[in-house]
Amino acid sequence: MRNLYNEIKDQFPMLNEQMNGKPLTYLDSAATALKPLSVLEEIENYYKRGTTNVHRSIHSLGEKMTQKYEKTRDTLVHFLNAKSREEIVFTKGTTDGLNLLARCLDYKLKTGDEILISELEHHSNIVPWQMTCERTGAVLKVVSIDENGDLDLEDYKSKLSVKTKIVSIIALSNVLGTRTPVKEMAAMAHEKGALFISDAAQLVVQEKVDVQELGVDFLVFSAHKLYGPTGVGVLYGKKDLLEEMPPYAGGGDMIDQVTFEKTTFNDLPYKFEAGTPNISGVIAFQKSLEFVESLGFDAIQEYDKHLLNYGLDKLKALPGFNLIGNPKNRGPIITFTIDGVHTHDLVTMITMEGVAIRTGHHCAQPLHRKLGIVSSARASLTIYNNEDDIERLYGALKKAQELLA
Ligand SMILES: Cc1ncc(COP(=O)(O)O)c(C=O)c1O
Repeated sequence: MRNLYNEIKDQFPMLNEQMNGKPLTYLDSAATALKPLSVLEEIENYYKRGTTNVHRSIHSLGEKMTQKYEKTRDTLVHFLNAKSREEIVFTKGTTDGLNLLARCLDYKLKTGDEILISELEHHSNIVPWQMTCERTGAVLKVVSIDENGDLDLEDYKSKLSVKTKIVSIIALSNVLGTRTPVKEMAAMAHEKGALFISDAAQLVVQEKVDVQELGVDFLVFSAHKLYGPTGVGVLYGKKDLLEEMPPYAGGGDMIDQVTFEKTTFNDLPYKFEAGTPNISGVIAFQKSLEFVESLGFDAIQEYDKHLLNYGLDKLKALPGFNLIGNPKNRGPIITFTIDGVHTHDLVTMITMEGVAIRTGHHCAQPLHRKLGIVSSARASLTIYNNEDDIERLYGALKKAQELLA
C-alpha cells in the first residue's frame, strides 16, 4: 500500500496549524476537506495576476481566464466520463445543484406523482423536494434503511411505481458512510420511467465516478469536499434533459436575446449559469482535480480503507463506544456515541486536545430520529490523515470520557 499521507502531507499547510495550543488533528473532511497548495496558489494567482470577468471581455486577460475557467469544465467531462461539456453545469455546491433540480423539474410533476428519497438523506436532498411537493402536489416517499444502515433494496423496489417520477438518493452517507447501490437503483428507476438523481457529495472523494456506467440522469457534488474551493459545485445532467428543462435563475450569461417583451436563452451549459460565477473557485478547482487524478482512486480507496479499519479497531476498544451503523460497503466515516457522555460535551473536550471532529445531527435530523438519537460524533478520515491522528483521537476521547463520565 502506498502511504499517501507521507506523499502529500507537505502540500497541506493547514496540517501545520494548531488548535487550542495543540497540533491540529483534522478529522472533519466530510464537512470540508483541507486544500493543497496548488489550489491555494491558483486562487491567489487569479486575484493577484489574473482578475477579470469571464465570457464577457474579449481583451487578452479576459480570454485567458475564460479559457482557464472552461478548462475545468473539460477536465470534469473526463473526470465523470460525461458525453460532452454541455452536460457539466457549474453551481455553488451540492445544495445549489439539488435546489436547481428540485425547481427546474417541476414540469415533470403533477398532483399525485411521487418523488422517492431515502432515510439516509442530507437535508439538502429532503427540503428542496418538500418545497417541490408543495408547489406541484407531488408526494414525497421515503425508502427505509435496515438495522446496519444499508439502504433496504426490497423497500426501494416496493416503493418504486409508475407514479414515481423522480428518485433522488444519496450515493454515500455523510453520517453512516453507507455506499448505496447507485447503478442498480438507477436501472430500476428507469424501468418505471422515473428520473434518477445521485447526491454524490461524499462519493466523488472515494471512487472514480463514471456517470455513464452508473446510468444516472443527474449527479451533483461540491468542489470543497474534493480538496477544492468552497462556493463551487457541479451538476452533471444528460444533455437532452438539460435541454428541455427551463432555466433556474435569470440574468447575465444565461441569455441569448433580451427584449422587454421576451428573452431567449443561451445554449447549454450556460443556460443554467446566470451572473458572474465563482471564477477563482472554478479555476482553482482544476488544481484539485489534477491533485486527485495524480494520486488515482485505487490508491485513495486502498489508503482510506486501511485508515477506516485501523480507526474502527482502535475506537471499538474504547469502553462504552457505540458505532452508529455498520453498512456492508462503506466510506471512511466513523460515527459514534459514548455511553453516559453527551456528544457535545465530548467534542468540546477533545477540541482542547487539538482534535477536530464533528458533532450534532450532521444535517440529517430525520436519520438521527430514525436511529433514536439526537446527536452523534463523527470522525471522517482521508488521505492526509494517518494512524497517529487516530491515536490522538483515541487518547483525547479517553481523557474526555474519564473527566466527563
Ligand atoms: C451527502 C451530502 N449531500 C449534500 C451536502 C451539502 O453539500 P454543500 O453544503 O457543499 O452544498 C453534503 C455536505 O455535507 C453532504 O455530505
